Amino acid sequence: MNYIEKIDMERVPQHIAIIMDGNGRWAQLRGKERQEGHQAGAVAVRQLVEDALKLGVKYLTLYTFSTENWKRPIAEVAALMALLFESVEEELFVKHNVAFRIIGDMSKLPDNVRDRLNGCVERTANNNAMTLVLALSYSSKWEITEAVRSIASKVKDGNMELADITDEAIDNALATSFMPDPDLLIRTGKEQRLSNFLLWQLAYAEFYFTEVLWPDFNKEELCKAIYEYQCRQRRYGLTGEQVTNDEKTL
Ligand code: IPE
Ligand code: IPE
Ligand code: MG
Repeated sequence: MNYIEKIDMERVPQHIAIIMDGNGRWAQLRGKERQEGHQAGAVAVRQLVEDALKLGVKYLTLYTFSTENWKRPIAEVAALMALLFESVEEELFVKHNVAFRIIGDMSKLPDNVRDRLNGCVERTANNNAMTLVLALSYSSKWEITEAVRSIASKVKDGNMELADITDEAIDNALATSFMPDPDLLIRTGKEQRLSNFLLWQLAYAEFYFTEVLWPDFNKEELCKAIYEYQCRQRRYGLTGEQVTNDEKTL
């Protein structure tokens, strides 16, 4: 099936979030080191950014390295950091008018990686074709804890009332405050779990799980996920009939 031609270009999700899993298994299946899987994964990321851009996706959030991933063997962590340093291609973002952002605990990153990424964030801040967000040294529980802490300190200092702690105030205290919630969550690599990713923001996202390992994920696989998303009805608690009638009056 050619999903690239099947999708409705008018209804491409505005924000796609991806848990890019399966690099290690991809390498092991080929008798290679895990690190080679990560390298192949980085090639897939580069291609995917261009594909998402062409499809008109406005926000692409990629789970790149979790808080828990710091517990991996030192050599794998070091190799991932080196790969990150060399893979963030500012020229590519400039060429395609892509804004680059990071969510996560940047203080844990090696200085050279942090400086390079921060520079890239600053220099692409005014780009507006698409926003590419890397979740790096990220976990949702870390993010929510930070948000709770910042809200609590405002209340303690008398700068915020308890009644001001609303759904919206919490959105604004999260690292993702600059963008809408994801419409579609994709996880590659067979597992069906969130692994501490965007717990708050995925409240009404559509979930799509695939066995395809991350380095094999390509435009056709992306379009397949978008096609499945487009076949669903997002009801947000309403009845199917209410949603259909709303669509008719639009
Ligand atoms: C995802 O691939 C990349 C990172 C978590 C950094 P994995 O490295 O988790 O690959 P598997 O799950 O071991 O196959
Ligand atoms: C999730 O993958 C994190 C990233 C893709 C960066 P993991 O491979 O770390 O997740 P678990 O450990 O299988 O849940
Ligand atoms: Mg994994």
